[in-house]
Amino acid sequence: MQEILLKKEYIYSGDLILVNYEHELKKQISTYNLVQFDENYNDILIDYNLNLALQKVLKKINANDKIIPVSGYRTYNEQKKIYDDSIIQNGEEFTKKYVAFPNTSEHQTGLAIDLGLKKKKIDFIRPSFPYAGICQQFRETMSYFGFIQRYTEPKENITKIASEMWHMRYVGYPHSEIMLENNLCLEEYIDYLRNYEYGKSSLKFKNYEIMYLKMDKEEYKIHIDNNFMVKISGNNVDGIIITTKRMI
Ligand code: DAL
Ligand code: ZN
Repeated sequence: MQEILLKKEYIYSGDLILVNYEHELKKQISTYNLVQFDENYNDILIDYNLNLALQKVLKKINANDKIIPVSGYRTYNEQKKIYDDSIIQNGEEFTKKYVAFPNTSEHQTGLAIDLGLKKKKIDFIRPSFPYAGICQQFRETMSYFGFIQRYTEPKENITKIASEMWHMRYVGYPHSEIMLENNLCLEEYIDYLRNYEYGKSSLKFKNYEIMYLKMDKEEYKIHIDNNFMVKISGNNVDGIIITTKRMI
């Protein structure tokens, strides 16, 4: 048996943290986790695991330089400047739809990336990432590598952000595939996982089992069979999600 100590502070970091208008980023990320997309885009930093997965998707679909990164990690000050500048240039209605208020942006987690179809002129706030061609191929492949399209039109009333075809969020595998199969946005998925409480039940998917632990104490010790690999992530609300993968 593997014994793992979970601490309350773990609620606020990991691939599955929900950062939105209701749940601000509570813990500043460690910039050690950030890497450059590549030397041609050395001003674009992203989470290390996001980058690994992204490079795999791009390679798989032979995207070469047809798809480019437009925006990755942003500091609080960068997000604030984008927000404030957009209010002046585009007005409040547009800005609230397409720019998250500082500290409620996934870009501050390093786990989001805006992608664009390469062309001469790229719109920084709303890059083009069409539902056709190489971009659509990316979309159809990405869920096998841990990505979701975070803001879609049918979920606008939940996310409070307009449909953003370019904004991809890394949540890790198999969460991305489960969310897609069940048509759940991240807000809904975080709630859905509450049905699978550690010690009572688990969400089974392929060789994975996923459980939720409400962190109503400072610490919990969990016990996982030796045959499973374990990954944990906070939900940035009240608990920890335990993802296990059967190895043999
Ligand atoms: N465009 C997204 C909502 C952001 O600013 O984080
Ligand atoms: Zn974005």
